[in-house]
Amino acid sequence: MSTTKGLEGIVATTSSVSSIIDGVLTYHGYNIDDLADNATFEEVVYLLWNNKLPNKEELETFTKELAQASTVPQEVLDQLRSFPIDQVHPMAALRTAVSNLALFDEEADEMTEEANRRKAVRLQAQLPTIVTAFARIRQGKEPVAPKQELSFAANFLYMLNGEEPDEISEKAFNKALVLHADHELNASTFTARVCVATLSDVYSGVTAAIGALKGPLHGGANERVMAMLNDIGDADKAESYIKEALENKTKIMGFGHRVYKDGDPRAKHLREMSRQLTDITGESKWYDMSVKIDEIVTNEKGLLPNVDFYSASVYHSLGIEHDIFTPIFAVSRVSGWLAHILEQYENNRLIRPRAEYTGPDKQEWIPLKDRK
Ligand SMILES: CC(C)(COP(=O)(O)OP(=O)(O)OC[C@H]1O[C@@H](n2cnc3c(N)ncnc32)[C@H](O)[C@@H]1OP(=O)(O)O)[C@@H](O)C(=O)NCCC(=O)NCCS
Repeated sequence: MSTTKGLEGIVATTSSVSSIIDGVLTYHGYNIDDLADNATFEEVVYLLWNNKLPNKEELETFTKELAQASTVPQEVLDQLRSFPIDQVHPMAALRTAVSNLALFDEEADEMTEEANRRKAVRLQAQLPTIVTAFARIRQGKEPVAPKQELSFAANFLYMLNGEEPDEISEKAFNKALVLHADHELNASTFTARVCVATLSDVYSGVTAAIGALKGPLHGGANERVMAMLNDIGDADKAESYIKEALENKTKIMGFGHRVYKDGDPRAKHLREMSRQLTDITGESKWYDMSVKIDEIVTNEKGLLPNVDFYSASVYHSLGIEHDIFTPIFAVSRVSGWLAHILEQYENNRLIRPRAEYTGPDKQEWIPLKDRK
């Protein structure tokens, strides 16, 4: 038996949701660059779930469906209030709340395609409500109910801050959501597919995926990038900080990628957004420092920034608390998880690989009383 550590390069399924071919990312054949420049997040979600861009009428109907599904059961909001606020990371709160949503959904275990699609709409719509409610509750504020007439991106910022965002913030946030929506068989999406391939329910798949996204080698990297920028404090200090970290074999968050070796196509969009937004906030030091780190890591290690690197200074510039960065990733990526979950159900087979055994052989049983 031969093993491939981390399943690198292993093709584990077919999928028509998104592709990474020769370093180009597409969602169902649409280049991410075109989508980032032109699409609303709602259009992208529709595309991922239906394998086609919506026409005007389909988009209106879908947007309305999402808006109407965004209210979270009161019991789930009340449970958020009961968490030990000071020690709970928002990703842990989100993971628990999504699992809790299933308990209040009569269709949770209904496995027809129609029921699964209705649950997908509810999950997509309710994740932003949960993330923003938790962010406010821990500040001693009341959650803000979503406004049905606002876009998905604007609504998130509205529910978070209690006031409608300006156009620049809305556009930037929309673009960030589009860029994070799907990414072939990344770790959390694979987790979701493994989970539902046992014919477990949609909520279990999404809950498992949130757990996988939370880790620092995946979605948790964006929050840690901001922590690093804070630690460094100034572009002049970047060189010594990064060189020392590399000497100590510390991973630089926001760099490197399992699949892209010539650069992550999403990073350039976030870099430009970071430049523009930090210019507007008057805090271009975050962009300058990021560019400096980018140069040093590229020169020293040949590693390029991934989606998480510049998204840190983008979200910071939008006034978002740093531990909400990864939950925002989840708010977007749940669209991809759901697309893959629906695809998995359509043509399911249990996912059950093998392990090469490396433990001892032929051990003799020792009764408890004789064990040392
Ligand atoms: C993304 C990531 C998990 C991919 O991991 P991977 O495909 O298993 O790559 P490896 O960890 O095997 O890396 C190969 C080499 O590059 C080094 N490397 C990879 N990413 C690095 C980073 N961010 N900083 C420093 N060194 C890094 C590894 O230490 C390893 O070096 P070695 O051969 O001397 O041991 C990895 O690049 C990483 O940890 N990045 C930082 C976390 C991050 O930004 N995650 C978000 C991904 S979108």
